[in-house]
Amino acid sequence: MTSGGDAPGMNACIRSVVRSAAGHKLLIDGIIRGYEGMINGDFQQMNTRTVANIIHRGGTILKTARSEVFKTPEGRQQAYEQLVAADVDAVVAIGGNGTFTGAHIFSQEYNIPFIGIPGTIDNDLYGTDYTIGFDTAVNTAIEAVDKIRDTADSHDRLFFIEVMGRDSGYIALNTGIGVGAGNILLPETHTDIDELVNALKIGVKRKKLFNLIIVAEGNKSGGAMKIAEEVDKRFNHYESKVAIIGHLQRGGAPTGLDRVLASRLGFSAVEALLSGKKNVMVGIVNNEVAYTPLEEAISKEKKLNPYLLKMAEVLAI
Ligand code: F6P
Repeated sequence: MTSGGDAPGMNACIRSVVRSAAGHKLLIDGIIRGYEGMINGDFQQMNTRTVANIIHRGGTILKTARSEVFKTPEGRQQAYEQLVAADVDAVVAIGGNGTFTGAHIFSQEYNIPFIGIPGTIDNDLYGTDYTIGFDTAVNTAIEAVDKIRDTADSHDRLFFIEVMGRDSGYIALNTGIGVGAGNILLPETHTDIDELVNALKIGVKRKKLFNLIIVAEGNKSGGAMKIAEEVDKRFNHYESKVAIIGHLQRGGAPTGLDRVLASRLGFSAVEALLSGKKNVMVGIVNNEVAYTPLEEAISKEKKLNPYLLKMAEVLAI
């Protein structure tokens, strides 16, 4: 099952789960539209052929949804009854925080083992260095900003570019480093508009002709629109512009890194189930497969690397 926001690489992961399970002669059903499909008994038999030719495709062939009904005890009971009726022994759920929160609650009420696979562009899950889709999203954002850079450079403009990530700054930090941004405004750090204006003024003195500022959508002082307004009020040297990359970041073919990560995690999820593990998220930590209880994956904070934060500041000079 895929659930929550789609992420590039989910298909590669579905393929890996199905083929790994088929290798052990297990029967596999795909659940359509996440928890919604579980509640409605929308299951489709899958085999090695139904997952052919999808490794390179963005989105998810199983479709996805954010289910409100699964948040209710009645919804979960209906889901349980559908799983029992379909003779389902275990569920592999590819998704993010919301998906695993649902799985954790369900696992306390019913005895059907869940294995979570981190699939979200936000990279905000504790227990894995990377989530499926993050690398692709960062590459897409970098490609978009590179194009904006051309016009920023030609017109000597100041650009505020907003990237996704919900409450997490992973996409913003990595995109910012990857494009050589002048500033990166994150949910995890405090944004001081006066300090930002000062930095821009110093840049002008140093003959910096254009500036790219990456703003995480979850930045506590506001998104790109709001920050641009505040800066314009205090400093009007530049003709400032705003670009919000939005859902572009969620689509497209997964990168090589995401395909390999998705394949590894899918394979490991099946191995985990066969070895008796349950209600854990499978992740990669320091290039090794690691299992984290779902409860920890959803409750522990995954902190940004302070070394990267410092480096981004130094390189922006
Ligand atoms: O969790 C992935 C994500 O793309 C976030 O970065 C973003 O905040 C959110 O989903 C957008 O959700 P939706 O597509 O439901 O508007």
